[in-house]
Amino acid sequence: MKTCITIFTIWVLTINVAEVTAQPQPGNTMQAFTPPMGWMTWNYFGEHINEEILKGMADAMVSSGMLKAGYQYIMIDDGWQGGRDNKNNIIPDPVKFPSGIKALADYLHAKGIKIGIYSDAAPLTCAGYTASLNFEEQDAKTFASWGIDYLKYDYCNAPADSITAKTRYKKMADALAKSGRPIVFGICEWGSRKPWHWAANAGGNLWRTTGDIRDKWKTKPGKDGMGILDIVDINAALYEYAGPGRWNDPDMLVAGLYGAKGPASDLGGVGCSDIEYQSQMSLWSIMAAPLIATNNLRDMNAETKRILMNEEVIAVNQDKMALQAIRKINNDTWEIFVKPLVNKDVAIAILNKSETVQHCQIDFKDLGLTGDFTIKDLWKHTIIGNGKSWDGNIGAHETKMFRLIKK
Ligand code: GLA
Repeated sequence: MKTCITIFTIWVLTINVAEVTAQPQPGNTMQAFTPPMGWMTWNYFGEHINEEILKGMADAMVSSGMLKAGYQYIMIDDGWQGGRDNKNNIIPDPVKFPSGIKALADYLHAKGIKIGIYSDAAPLTCAGYTASLNFEEQDAKTFASWGIDYLKYDYCNAPADSITAKTRYKKMADALAKSGRPIVFGICEWGSRKPWHWAANAGGNLWRTTGDIRDKWKTKPGKDGMGILDIVDINAALYEYAGPGRWNDPDMLVAGLYGAKGPASDLGGVGCSDIEYQSQMSLWSIMAAPLIATNNLRDMNAETKRILMNEEVIAVNQDKMALQAIRKINNDTWEIFVKPLVNKDVAIAILNKSETVQHCQIDFKDLGLTGDFTIKDLWKHTIIGNGKSWDGNIGAHETKMFRLIKK
């Protein structure tokens, strides 16, 4: 067994946690001060959505405890649109949403749930439905009149260059700002034009950093589609761009899908183990990623509930220091993340990427952390030690997540 301490001597970085403090950044920080949390239709239902499914999901959001755990939004992804009426107002598909989106929004709001919707910065969306190019102000007003709280804005069927992307996203952000309703703005151009450099200035509260996630641990060489580890590799490096109202979005949580047919099972998405889903929840939480579940909330097993509703892990994600963790260690076996929290506490996540159990021995000072800590294991929900170090075994593909409570 390899111990992680030997690896540290080679890989530990020189960045000190104390250097990472919340910097005032430009952008729309009045909204999404902490990463948005919710549930999105896409990976389980694809385009096959309707108002009964959405209402059922809202009921399940409440009865399962997801709302209480912090998942605030139900987000309608692609496939809701029914074209435009004779005044060019965008309308929902009358068969899927016969009561209209406003009635659905009212239903959700009455339960304390916010509602998200989807459009695209081109004439048509990724799945070929009516989108918002040249109707930005009109559509933003329509969304506001329905009571929409969040807009995911995609970039299929749009020109590849960055200037056009920035212009089109800003146009919709300005339209939302004029709509009279606070609407969180999610930019979705898959990281292709490095949106971490410009999306906050264009009015985005979050921006996808990668292509679509598939329900798998990682891509096999030569296979298409991104798994959890492939996405972590891109998103982890972008920690300095995240902050209040401006988040890196590495796409949805796949916990609970277990390879279910749908977009996440394309391109080799075969499902993950619960240990792997737990790792995704740990890594997304410590990276201050939006926590957007996409499984069938009406039918969750105990493991999926345990993973998605771990309130101590969620508290790390939602911590008011509002920082994305730094990945301090990254080698063939280990990834170790460090996230400063309020009250001088620190969260650490230790991922064993190898295919066998490994022994890990950490001196916290090697992570740039000085002083004594009480160590709480956030998956076991128990205090497991005190002091300046920890050692123990970590299973294959498992992520340990600790809160180091400053003494
Ligand atoms: C793109 C997005 C996905 C989803 C689909 C809908 O692929 O990246 O998240 O919204 O479009 O068509």
